[in-house]
Amino acid sequence: MSATATPPLLERFVQAGQGQVFAFWGQLDEGGRRALLEQAGEINLAEVKRLTRLLLGRDAAPGVDLTDLQPAPYVARPENGGEAAEWARARAAGEAALRAGRVAAFTVAGGQGTRLGYDGPKGTFPVTPLKRKSLFQVFAEKITAVGRRHGRPLHWFIMTSHANHARTEAFFAEHRFFGLDRARVHFFRQGRMPAVDFTGRILLESPGGIALSPDGHGGSLRALHRSGALDLMQGEGIDTISYFQVDNPLVRCIDPAFIGWHLVRGAEMSAKMIPKAYPEEKLGHFCLQHGRLVVIEYSDLPLAVQREVDLPTGRLRYVAGSIAIHILDREFVRRMAGGGALPFHRADKKIATIDAAGRPVKPAAPNGAKFEIFVFDALPFARNALVSETRRADDFSPVKNAEGVDSPRTAREDQLRQYARWLQGVGASLTTDASGLPMVTLEVSPLFGYDEESFAESWARRSPKPEVGEGLYLE
Ligand code: UD1
Repeated sequence: MSATATPPLLERFVQAGQGQVFAFWGQLDEGGRRALLEQAGEINLAEVKRLTRLLLGRDAAPGVDLTDLQPAPYVARPENGGEAAEWARARAAGEAALRAGRVAAFTVAGGQGTRLGYDGPKGTFPVTPLKRKSLFQVFAEKITAVGRRHGRPLHWFIMTSHANHARTEAFFAEHRFFGLDRARVHFFRQGRMPAVDFTGRILLESPGGIALSPDGHGGSLRALHRSGALDLMQGEGIDTISYFQVDNPLVRCIDPAFIGWHLVRGAEMSAKMIPKAYPEEKLGHFCLQHGRLVVIEYSDLPLAVQREVDLPTGRLRYVAGSIAIHILDREFVRRMAGGGALPFHRADKKIATIDAAGRPVKPAAPNGAKFEIFVFDALPFARNALVSETRRADDFSPVKNAEGVDSPRTAREDQLRQYARWLQGVGASLTTDASGLPMVTLEVSPLFGYDEESFAESWARRSPKPEVGEGLYLE
């Protein structure tokens, strides 16, 4: 392209009232122009226009629709009234699917991790109590262990963002993929959306750069399709996707009973729930709305509703909290990936931008909005969508904040409690405090045990038995 010609893409932005994106075009060198055009090419102008009207305009809906809402039913665990025989059947169905190679693991790792204040892809965060293994290593070992147990190594799909893709891949290479077969680990980037000011004008973060950010974990459905991951799965005979977030070291990346419930019920999408610990706990809520399963975020459900209790049990009415663990049917993902079925949510943010002279501006208050889609918004579109209960202690202790709740310290302690429970379960003597936290620091590799049962089997085989005390590492 010659330096003077006006590219058609630029024209389109001008026509759409977004010409400010190219305000510094005259000052950019050849490389800078190419980079800007590439970014601009990612933007769907019609979509930005639609979202501006829908979410920012005068007629924008005032908030989330809360009409005709009731608590969603869920499959209770045996100790809470569920049928033990049905759980056993579900587990057997999940195990059969694993033996047949029908299941893949899928991690969404494209988030920005701002709250944790950690500079690096979140999956590289050291999280285990003794060995300081990264989140990615914990998942890798769980996936390896489950594959070994069922005689079929699993494929693992990892969604990254533009910002962390290269560092994520480099981390895996540096650690030799934690012993996994590299041909079965697949990275792909999620899509991006432009940030806009409150009138819908796309913001620049530098004279040659658009303020783009990840399109939310719901973008994973489109990205699975666009990247060719769904086709690859199809070629491998995989039809069941086990979805989990990168921030949760306790997650059972692959849970046969949960997979089994999904398959037995013929669900297109399933979700795990835990009973909320207290009304204000920051979890999404599983609800039925107009007869369909939905998740209403903690920020959208009025506190008075979150505090409602059922009489006479005294239990929270909206008790089912979402821990963002799902099973997805491959062809359901394909269907959802096209057609823009998932709604975008608006998040008002302080967006670093530039002024008319191209100087950086760091706003003190929100100056615009980002648009994101959420994976759980696919639930109402799924046939036979299912919610199944899990034990918090076995599945959920996320690392979200630098301190306090859901922090590295709470995740570390919850891992220690889990090891202590498993050890006590096989009769080892170990002192804990009233909360189950052991007095010593120890660690169990998922390759030794990734759940109570696999742990007990490895322990039974281990001879002589190790001394349970400070620094014990079982692998
Ligand atoms: C999320 C859920 C909430 C649930 C809680 C459980 C939302 C809006 N809320 O809250 O219902 O109870 O987890 O832990 O999701 N991610 C991407 N790309 C993105 C954005 C996020 O891959 O564009 C990934 C992150 O890497 C992370 C996960 O999605 O693995 C969660 O994102 P985050 O924004 O931290 O969700 P929460 O607000 O914690």
